[in-house]
Amino acid sequence: MSISPFDQIIDRRNTSSIKWTKYGDEDVIPMWVADMEFAIAPEILNALKSRIDHPILGYTRAPEALYEAVIAYLQRSFQWQIDESWLVWLPGVVPGLTAASSMAGKQGDSVLVPSPVYHPLLHIPEKAGKERIDLPLVYQQNRWSIDFDLLERQAKNPRATSLLLCSPHNPAGTMYTSAELRQLMEICTKHNVLVVSDEIHCDLVLDEQAPHVPTAVAAGELASNTITLMSPSKTYNLAGANCSFAIIPDPAVREKFSEACHYTVPIVPTLSYIAAQAAYTHGQSWHAQLIQHLRRNHQTLRSAVDAMPYIWMDATAATYLAWINTSDMPVEDPCDYFRQHGVGLSPGAQFGDPNYQRLNFACAGEQLDTALSRIERALAQLA
Ligand SMILES: Cc1ncc(COP(=O)(O)O)c(C=O)c1O
Repeated sequence: MSISPFDQIIDRRNTSSIKWTKYGDEDVIPMWVADMEFAIAPEILNALKSRIDHPILGYTRAPEALYEAVIAYLQRSFQWQIDESWLVWLPGVVPGLTAASSMAGKQGDSVLVPSPVYHPLLHIPEKAGKERIDLPLVYQQNRWSIDFDLLERQAKNPRATSLLLCSPHNPAGTMYTSAELRQLMEICTKHNVLVVSDEIHCDLVLDEQAPHVPTAVAAGELASNTITLMSPSKTYNLAGANCSFAIIPDPAVREKFSEACHYTVPIVPTLSYIAAQAAYTHGQSWHAQLIQHLRRNHQTLRSAVDAMPYIWMDATAATYLAWINTSDMPVEDPCDYFRQHGVGLSPGAQFGDPNYQRLNFACAGEQLDTALSRIERALAQLA
């Protein structure tokens, strides 16, 4: 029987991978930064190969076929009909978050950030000359969500001019419902708070009952108060092939955003457009297999963690990132403890909650099994 491409173990140690060089020669399975251990779709590889047959990689604009592919993808996946003019191409979602934070309001204003969250969202407001106001997520009905009373109180402050949302949520794995997003949009729009929605994980749906709804779609007629950031980078394992995009329906917001990018955000690399175009045009079957694999890994991980002492895992409706509570472990630094036992996690403190560690399970089944045995052994030694 042939092995699934998603179960093949690929040696990345000679690729200067940030994920794999972190631990030097230590025998540590890296399960931290959010890229996957899977070969990209053959269609993407072929498109890149055929582009480099041409000997010049000059400055490039987004190909018309990429516009068409993204518009078709948004319609097919989220029933979101956008106009081509709404798209602003970016070499990453993070620069988009930075541009959005700097163009909204004025120096000294506040940025609301539901947290814990993917760590750049914690640091970008200050870099953009703003004050960050945390909106701690609340755990209710087995998932983390927005504290709407707190949001209403904070949004009322006239200095609050934008909100950075991560949807689906990294690291808590929450898939916000349409009703939640609509409520958030109503509160923010009432108080003139621009909503910047980082939806980079939108295609990584684990819970079939919880589809992704773009914030701008849930917003309906309030969509002019949104900036959405998306990218093929998480979905198609193109994290090092920087091509992302902002979707900005309102022309005035779009102009301010583009102005904030001017001279600070580089243009998208030529090959990155090619990879993105191939991903959105030909990647559907690869993506369907990816989701099956991630759902299997998620089940394996959940069953294993449920049977382990000291740790537990919150529900993960989306992303390939598990949010694992380690607060009962009798060690000072659980992340370092697991590293000593051969598993490299992201410390929850980096995202704003030291009670947790984040584990990236986008790997071959065998790698996950080895990591789980190591975690089990590490915990057994605490007894
Ligand atoms: C929520 C979120 N936003 C943005 C990024 C990074 O985006 P980019 O590499 O396009 O800047 C990540 C990467 O892990 C992420 O999880």
